[in-house]
Amino acid sequence: MSAQAGVLAPTIGLEKVSKRFGTQTVLQEISFSVWPGEIVALLGASGCGKSTLLNIISGLLPADSGTITLQGESIARFSQWRRLGYLFQEDRLLPWRSVRQNVGFALENSTLPRAERRTRIDDALALVGMESVGNKWPHQLSGGMRSRIALARSLVSEPEILLMDEPFSKLDPQTRSAMHAELLRICQLKNMTVVMVTHDVEEAVILADRIVILQPAPGRISQIVDMPLPRPRLPTGRDVAENVRLLRMEV
Ligand SMILES: Nc1ncnc2c1ncn2[C@@H]1O[C@H](COP(=O)(O)OP(=O)(O)OP(=O)(O)O)[C@@H](O)[C@H]1O
Ligand SMILES: [Mg+2]
Repeated sequence: MSAQAGVLAPTIGLEKVSKRFGTQTVLQEISFSVWPGEIVALLGASGCGKSTLLNIISGLLPADSGTITLQGESIARFSQWRRLGYLFQEDRLLPWRSVRQNVGFALENSTLPRAERRTRIDDALALVGMESVGNKWPHQLSGGMRSRIALARSLVSEPEILLMDEPFSKLDPQTRSAMHAELLRICQLKNMTVVMVTHDVEEAVILADRIVILQPAPGRISQIVDMPLPRPRLPTGRDVAENVRLLRMEV
């Protein structure tokens, strides 16, 4: 999971990306690259433009200026099916669909046979420890369960690029640690590239290869910090604690 500058096109390339809403400049000249298999965390105060940036990377929101490339292709040409998963900040479960149907939503435009879809849904639910609630409705779930279902939905298509907006913030500490381990395992297994937003400095240190720190008003990059600590990184580890301490002074 190391940077491969100069060898390949970056998985995600941002060059001077800016965005305004009305008179407010929300993002100002954001430039960074994410390399294959990297996990990059976006850290920054509320309102500094993190979700806006993920929306722009996903192609849901146009930038006002700057360029965005995904695997060397312009965002308009990048075919998203199977290649990009987006876990939104809010879970966006559809209340009129069962849990299984919500997870399967990401497969609806696929040509996968029905049996394969069923297996994928089973696997995704098992991955997040929710295999017993497949036939329930979203309103019957707790907040933490809902966010795990949303995570399963973002993984079910086995995307090459995964964008995650505060994916673990509603989980209890034990489940969160288990999900961290799962995410790292899947990333390594599938060579998935991840950009994740978090408010949790410790989570960023435990998961990320690099941490992009944003400052608000206008949202801009203040620092990009490499996190080359060996894995597994335990919250109790001395290196982790020291990096958390240093980063808390920057955010
Ligand atoms: N569609 C929109 N129209 C107008 N302003 C918007 C829109 N979306 C976001 N904003 C504004 O842009 C700024 C950045 O919002 P964004 O949601 O990207 O912040 P964030 O860093 O994700 O915050 P949080 O950590 O609270 O989720 C905020 O001031 C917000 O009010
Ligand atoms: Mg946000």
